[in-house]
Amino acid sequence: MVSRVIPVEPFDLVLFGATGDLARRKILPALFHRFQIGQFNTECRIIGSSRSELTAEEFRSQTADAIREFGQDVGTTPEEIAAFTALLDYAAVDARGDAGWEEFQAKLRDDAVRAFYLSVGPSLFTDIARRLSQTGIATPQSRIVLEKPFGHDLASAQALNAALREHFEERQIYRIDHYLGKETVQNLMALRFANSLFEPLWNSSHIDHVQITVAESIGVEGRGEYYDKSGAMRDMVQNHLMQLLCLTAMEPPAKFTPNAVRDEKVKVIEALRPVPQSDIARGQYRGTNGGKKGDSYRDHAGNAASRTESYIALKVEVANWRWAGTPFYLRTGKCLRERVSEIAVYFRDPPHNIFEGSGTVHGNVLVIRLQPDEGITLKTTIKDPGPGGMRLTGANLDMTFADELPESGRPQDAYERLIMDVIRGNQTLFMRGDEVEAAWAWADPIIAGWQETGHPPQPYDSGGSGPDDSLLLIHRDGRRWRGIGT
Ligand code: BG6
Repeated sequence: MVSRVIPVEPFDLVLFGATGDLARRKILPALFHRFQIGQFNTECRIIGSSRSELTAEEFRSQTADAIREFGQDVGTTPEEIAAFTALLDYAAVDARGDAGWEEFQAKLRDDAVRAFYLSVGPSLFTDIARRLSQTGIATPQSRIVLEKPFGHDLASAQALNAALREHFEERQIYRIDHYLGKETVQNLMALRFANSLFEPLWNSSHIDHVQITVAESIGVEGRGEYYDKSGAMRDMVQNHLMQLLCLTAMEPPAKFTPNAVRDEKVKVIEALRPVPQSDIARGQYRGTNGGKKGDSYRDHAGNAASRTESYIALKVEVANWRWAGTPFYLRTGKCLRERVSEIAVYFRDPPHNIFEGSGTVHGNVLVIRLQPDEGITLKTTIKDPGPGGMRLTGANLDMTFADELPESGRPQDAYERLIMDVIRGNQTLFMRGDEVEAAWAWADPIIAGWQETGHPPQPYDSGGSGPDDSLLLIHRDGRRWRGIGT
């Protein structure tokens, strides 16, 4: 709702990689919607940059196309798009050479917040950061924003952090994990720390286990080259699922400040036990009908011998007082039956059943749904309504945010929130350098483990629910995955 929008200070946002896919699909439409809703005005400017020689007018017109194609359907008018694109400028620069930088510098104002958004390949991060600092284009108040992947392993993440810190202080560095910008991810913190109901039960005495699922229905078409060197562990677990795990498992921070929250997340990562290979299931989609249609992962990746996983499930233990004895099962994969991301917290059964013979007591499950249909559901056991004596049945206490809070309007894309947080100078939803390194320090030995054994991922049917090994991983503990798309 417009009334809830707090305008931000005037800014110059420089978008490197302005003609790239992420800029077109996400960043520029996100900025447009924030403008449309009144969060910033015509005192703000967005300066696109890339190697391509474009005029400002061409960049405006490309951006207008991107908004029409990828923006949300909220009755956008041509006038609104024109008003937004009037804020755009463009400067071609050579990230590794001298060309264009002087003209680019001349476009920046001294009295506006300066933010440099590097929506470029990670191999350019250091060159651009160095150039910004050495030319004085970046001031001590400027912010630098980096897209994932942030490193490929611990050593590369450390090298990148060290290179950035030569030119920027940690308080200026915004490492994006777009999962942190999702509405329900923040709601998880509100649920845990703004309600007195859950936190007393939020430990291994009351919680049997937790399942974190990020299932995608799409494959890696078009991104095969990047993905084949990465796989689900690096692409999703080290960052997105790790963040969900941290927010679920962390201790209450004393304050909702960036470092208080991030300190607690780092402690969770550091408490993770090394994961043995026996607690991991890796899979690779093989297309439909047993792989006959040419739509397998290997086809999409263009690598007929690929051993990269497009699916992974892991049993993870947080070795501390709160969580000892409560496993976290993580799974993520491509080409699964349905797109669904959720955190499901399984509470222990009541210690004693007084209703013997009246039906099953269904253990409480709190499901925090990130997408689709953001919301929270609590599975409970109730009396089956009506006559017939005491019969028990399961029922959901269901709160879908769109139903419950219709006045909050259209769902905000994660990038909208994150970019505005950069301008506001709020780092709470961005990863700190030590946090990223801790996550790699945990992930590296896991990856090295399967590289050593040489075990290929297990094939699974596209459109299904993942490889059989993943079922075994949880069944052998006497537990079951929640259905994907059932
Ligand atoms: C990206 C991954 O970070 O997140 C992609 O690189 C993945 O492989 C995407 O598809 C998922 O994001 P979302 O917001 O669609 O769940």
